[in-house]
Amino acid sequence: MKHGPRIITVANQKGGVGKTTTAINLATALAAIGERVLIVDLDPQGNASTGLGIDRQDRTVSSYDVLTGALTIGAAAIPTAVPGLSIVPSTLDLLGIEMEIANAPDRVLRLRNALSHNTAEETGFSYVLIDCPPSLNLLTLNSMAAADSVLVPLQCEFFALEGLSQLLATVEQVRRSINPSLTIQGIVLTMFDRRNNLANQVVEDVRAHMGEKVYDTIIPRNVRVSEAPSHGKPAILYDLACAGSQAYLQLASEVIRRERRLQAA
Ligand SMILES: Nc1ncnc2c1ncn2[C@@H]1O[C@H](COP(=O)(O)OP(=O)(O)OP(=O)(O)O)[C@@H](O)[C@H]1O
Ligand SMILES: [Mg+2]
Repeated sequence: MKHGPRIITVANQKGGVGKTTTAINLATALAAIGERVLIVDLDPQGNASTGLGIDRQDRTVSSYDVLTGALTIGAAAIPTAVPGLSIVPSTLDLLGIEMEIANAPDRVLRLRNALSHNTAEETGFSYVLIDCPPSLNLLTLNSMAAADSVLVPLQCEFFALEGLSQLLATVEQVRRSINPSLTIQGIVLTMFDRRNNLANQVVEDVRAHMGEKVYDTIIPRNVRVSEAPSHGKPAILYDLACAGSQAYLQLASEVIRRERRLQAA
């Protein structure tokens, strides 16, 4: 078995489907059960950093520094208010990275190399979650090259499945070229509104197409979840009892259960 942390990238080139919310709350839930977790914010928007209460002026280190090779992951990781959860924050510098490293032969492998030089012994992380931008760009490719698996949030709306085939094709392309052991961690349905007939239909369609890859846990649309980032807190800390937080806790236990099954297989 591979040493070092389990690396999961949260990716979907569609915008606003719940990537950041899933990364933050899954990471928090994993930390709450005793895992040592790192989020790498790989989105220039920096929503994961903001959502975890890291103000822009406090981002003196960032994922940009990791991709340029200026800092190791260990040096760029800063603790959050959540015990056991650290983050490599992002800054707007990331917007320029694609141009800056476009001609470097290792441009897709920057994050992977940084993570592999940073073993569990050095930092003690057992999980690394990567929050991707809404694009299949070089940043997302870096995350897929570095990861063990891809976690795909899908919003329960009419166009949910559209774009999924392109995402899966990209995963397949990464698997064939730079990262043969990359797997699909799972697909998580987000922002579900059970009063909406269409949402129910979408759940059925996604399950019919993607079968076992779809998690049993469905994340409901929940106003407390959407309020939490403006308080710089994961929903799970902002309002543990709300339906959204409870669903994310359930998702975390499902993720762990599936991982154990994989390891046993
Ligand atoms: N379960 C939920 N219930 C209500 N609102 C939610 C839920 N999940 C996410 N949101 C809200 O929906 C918006 C988009 O979510 P989020 O930022 O997690 O998506 P994203 O895929 O990371 O977006 P982007 O592609 O821009 O990075 C945010 O305002 C977030 O607070
Ligand atoms: Mg996001």
